[in-house]
Amino acid sequence: MDCARMDYEDQITEMLKNMTIFQKIGQLVQFGTFRELEKQLVKDGEIGSLLNFCGSTQVTEIQNWIMQSECPIPLLIGDDVIHGYKTGFPIPLAESCSFDLACMEETAAIAAREAACDGVNMIFAPMVDVARDPRWGRVAEGAGEDPWYGSQVAAARVRGFQRNDWDDKPHVTACPKHYVGYAASEGGRDYSYTEISERTLHETYLPPFRAAVEAGAGAVMSAFNDVSGDPASLSHHLLEDVLREELGFRGLVVSDWESVEQGVAHGVAADLREAVKKGLLAGVELDMNSGIYREQLPALLESGEITEEDLDRAVRRILRVKFSLGLFEQYESPESLGQQLHRHPEHVRTARQMARESIVLLENRKQLLPLSRELGSIVVIGPLADAPSHMLGCWQCKTDASHVVTLLQGVREAVSADTEIRYAKGCALPFDEDQSGDIESAVLAAQGSDLVLLALGEPCGFCGENNSRAFLDLPQPQDELLRRVCAVNPNVVLILMNGRPLTLTRERELVDTIVEAWYLGDESGHALADVLFGDYNPSGKLTISFPRSVGQVPIYYNQRNSGRPELIRYIDEEITPLYPFGYGLSYSRFVYEDLTLSATVLHPGETLRVQVTLRNDSERGGEEVVQMYLRDPAASVTRPVRELKGFEKVSLAPGERKTVVFEITEDMLAFPGADWKPVAEPGEFQVFVGGDSRCDNMASFRLEQ
Ligand code: GLC
Repeated sequence: MDCARMDYEDQITEMLKNMTIFQKIGQLVQFGTFRELEKQLVKDGEIGSLLNFCGSTQVTEIQNWIMQSECPIPLLIGDDVIHGYKTGFPIPLAESCSFDLACMEETAAIAAREAACDGVNMIFAPMVDVARDPRWGRVAEGAGEDPWYGSQVAAARVRGFQRNDWDDKPHVTACPKHYVGYAASEGGRDYSYTEISERTLHETYLPPFRAAVEAGAGAVMSAFNDVSGDPASLSHHLLEDVLREELGFRGLVVSDWESVEQGVAHGVAADLREAVKKGLLAGVELDMNSGIYREQLPALLESGEITEEDLDRAVRRILRVKFSLGLFEQYESPESLGQQLHRHPEHVRTARQMARESIVLLENRKQLLPLSRELGSIVVIGPLADAPSHMLGCWQCKTDASHVVTLLQGVREAVSADTEIRYAKGCALPFDEDQSGDIESAVLAAQGSDLVLLALGEPCGFCGENNSRAFLDLPQPQDELLRRVCAVNPNVVLILMNGRPLTLTRERELVDTIVEAWYLGDESGHALADVLFGDYNPSGKLTISFPRSVGQVPIYYNQRNSGRPELIRYIDEEITPLYPFGYGLSYSRFVYEDLTLSATVLHPGETLRVQVTLRNDSERGGEEVVQMYLRDPAASVTRPVRELKGFEKVSLAPGERKTVVFEITEDMLAFPGADWKPVAEPGEFQVFVGGDSRCDNMASFRLEQ
């Protein structure tokens, strides 16, 4: 979907001629409620979009209403389909650990297809905020800490959401969010202010939006936060100069929930009238839920502070998207299609595969995994061992917990009839209604079992919007449960279910086997059993660093260098993360050999090939995400100590060797120059290839003009 390519200008011009001022303003109004008031406004053409409103029959009904009215312009129907519509997929942060762009594209396409069956035509996703502060609850919604990888994922998800197998028009527009810099909220406190330099804006926060726009996103959502004093939803610089001029965006901008109105709270608008004037002139076309465009624009037009040309520009951007979606020809979705597609077996199979690939093996020191199916007895313990609703993560959309396969269920299905499976909840989760669960019975059950599967972590309500934490520990009394169980049974597999990196230094000392399982959606239990019993060899790699302690935050792998790198320290903590970006173990053992470059000098227009041999030095087939990092050790500005610029997920049979080749071209060496345009400066570059961001397998070359 590319609004620039699908120009409908003449039709839109004709339409604008026949619209009243109120009908034009109506196109800029989106409501998240649908009561008598909104119903009447829809009828009168004074609402152009709804959210939190879906369902094949009622959407078709209201669209028919509209098309028979004096202002026959179909509604945009938006929804937060962040990780699945009816079929529950893993949270986006989990999916990103798969490094499987094709599968992430597929889950987005499935979610859009299921949503479109219910009349949704605008999905408020992908969330593309580059997140480096796990205190911020919304890290769960994105693709981690790396701008380049986050760009690959953003593009894949936009392609997925906007893919459409039915005809030549996308039925859904993606809406990458939150433009821009939301994840930099100070202190990890959601909705807080940010300090983002123009360089950091261009190097870190803009790239995923650029990728999403280049992938054809028809909409972008403006954020709640300011960018160093310039609130994103009222910023002409960010929305017009950067998003539209620099990134070439031609779709519509929808505000986050009432974020234009919040210009008053930010202190950049004296009143709602000024907030609307700034918001519209900045380039926010669709105002989410506040209704202030409808209230304030007539007077602003009357006074001439907003001209009809300003209004028409905004309406045109919205109509371009509606035409691009094919809404004027087709908005109906028969009930039967939803019944056929919602949670289609193929969708559920994809959910299981995505969940398998999202799991990250953090520790397996005693090679306890994979488990034998012939164990005499396994006890599954923990508040998340049989907690279906938590597996659906922080944006549960129209998923249904009754379909969720929990860890306990998945293990029960996986073992042989001779294996006894016990269960003990052990303790409750914070916020849960059911506060039952006692450690004593869990310890007793652990004492008498061959192996313990211990499912600990956060309640899903700990992640997502406005769920910032000041600590990153396991919520109590899980720490005590863990210690008491480990004291009576040496064979403990700790399975973490959480929406953010946690500080696991203590846990790592107590347990030899740790699996990061995030919130894996409908197929959680099946995917976990597949990994635990070896039907799937874990291949996930972390896309966000796990700190040793919250005092290290923010901590991420691609920080800029310092003038005294060797002296940087804490007197009371390491300076490295507990688990770094790109880290993840396998049941196989992979060996990297023979890193070679096709040349030691690269000229503009040439391609330099990086080659490495990967060997599976084990008896088990598996997949390895081979990562290639680049470093520019001397440039006109300080550059990150390394940056991921390529990866390949390679499958190897036992003993098999494969040559993996990455191609380097000049554009990959570029960074935002003094004018923010990409520049590649001549000089030395270093290439690192390995299994995580600490890899020291290095070769170097020179870029020469
Ligand atoms: C929320 C979120 C945004 C979401 C929107 C609509 O406040 O910030 O991500 O898409 O409102 O629900």
